[in-house]
Amino acid sequence: MQARLVASAGNVQLVPDKYPATGVWAYNASVPGPVLRVRQGDRLRVLVQNGLSETTTVHWHGVRLPNAMDGVPYITQPPIEPERDFTYEFAPPDAGTFFYHPHQRGYEQVGRGLAGALIVEEREPLAVDRDVLWVLGDWRLNGDASINGNFGNFMDLSHAGRIGNTVTINGRVPEGFRVRAGERIRLRLVNAASARAFALEFRGHRPWVIALDGQPVEPHQPAGGAVVLGPAMRADLILDMEAAPGSRHAVHDGFYRRLAYELTDLEYSDEAPLRTRAGDPPRLAANPLTEPDVRGAERHDIVFTGGMMGNMRGLARGMAWAVNGIANGCGDSGLPFEPLLVLRQGRSYVLRLVNDTLWHHPIHLHGHSFRVISRNGNPTRHREWLDTVMLDPRERAEIAFVADNPGDWMFHCHVLEHQASGMMACVRVS
Ligand code: C2O
Ligand code: CU
Repeated sequence: MQARLVASAGNVQLVPDKYPATGVWAYNASVPGPVLRVRQGDRLRVLVQNGLSETTTVHWHGVRLPNAMDGVPYITQPPIEPERDFTYEFAPPDAGTFFYHPHQRGYEQVGRGLAGALIVEEREPLAVDRDVLWVLGDWRLNGDASINGNFGNFMDLSHAGRIGNTVTINGRVPEGFRVRAGERIRLRLVNAASARAFALEFRGHRPWVIALDGQPVEPHQPAGGAVVLGPAMRADLILDMEAAPGSRHAVHDGFYRRLAYELTDLEYSDEAPLRTRAGDPPRLAANPLTEPDVRGAERHDIVFTGGMMGNMRGLARGMAWAVNGIANGCGDSGLPFEPLLVLRQGRSYVLRLVNDTLWHHPIHLHGHSFRVISRNGNPTRHREWLDTVMLDPRERAEIAFVADNPGDWMFHCHVLEHQASGMMACVRVS
């Protein structure tokens, strides 16, 4: 599969037509960028052309690819200068729902619209009536629908990140989502926001989660009924349209209690049901991940600190957060970046992640997927494979994986404002 992505400024209609278009930064003039689809194991070759007036890169979030294709400026490649290009080429080993975004000044480049979905198709397609993708975006717009330009302000860096005021699905403020009674939809959710988390409830429906961060999971109905997605996280759902023709049901986002709102509605057509009984959810075939040896693993503690109301050291340098006491910038600066950990290729590791702050942090490791084996000391029910694990305030989680991909891999919070202000580290596998 060959594709070309041109990053440049453009205008798109994010909000309803009676309002003006929004000036964005976009891939191929569309927000989100084009959906790239490739079969599991096939080669994907993407020419990225930089039409922005600043440097950029593209990171293939969650894909276990060779280090040189990971899109981290200065660490895996020189940043792509304006008017220049770079070709990424790799064969994704895992089927599932992934996404791509810049790794250079992400808090602004993603915040202005640079992100898109990468779908790696299973060799055996899943039996569903429709395969639907919702890329969730979050924007901080002014009254005239233009983007508020206050990126990287210290308030956002040191608190929850840049939470916007306008949520989009596939680049549009959603009106309603048409469905037919009885149909079975695979709904791929991608949280492409720089900071906003979602907790989606499909009122009147009981979605099955069949994959998280692209990796199959034992089909289950989410605890508490809501599908929680921190920034960069993905979920594949099976949604059976079990309500009556002609009915309407809210999709509600209650992640931030005081900012709860209705994202969209499921709007049933009047057609007779396609079928009357949904049956069990289908299962996805496992991806070729190596099982970590949890007992024999080497263990490390990783402590995340900072934020307002936290430890205030480092604030003077514009760094609000730290990993094991060290505040690194994005790596965007080209300053040397000492690895936090050096892991032996092929060995199993358990990292105990400690969120010693009062904020949420979706922690992402590049180049690997890991099992989440415990939270606050309790074994997890599904031992899910993720590439980004959401840590609640003061939460601890243990992740386990085999360090099987050599290179220097970023390990950071995916609230991109936190990443930019210290919550970023590097793990070396050699
Ligand atoms: Cu999706 Cu280091 O990023
Ligand atoms: Cu964070």
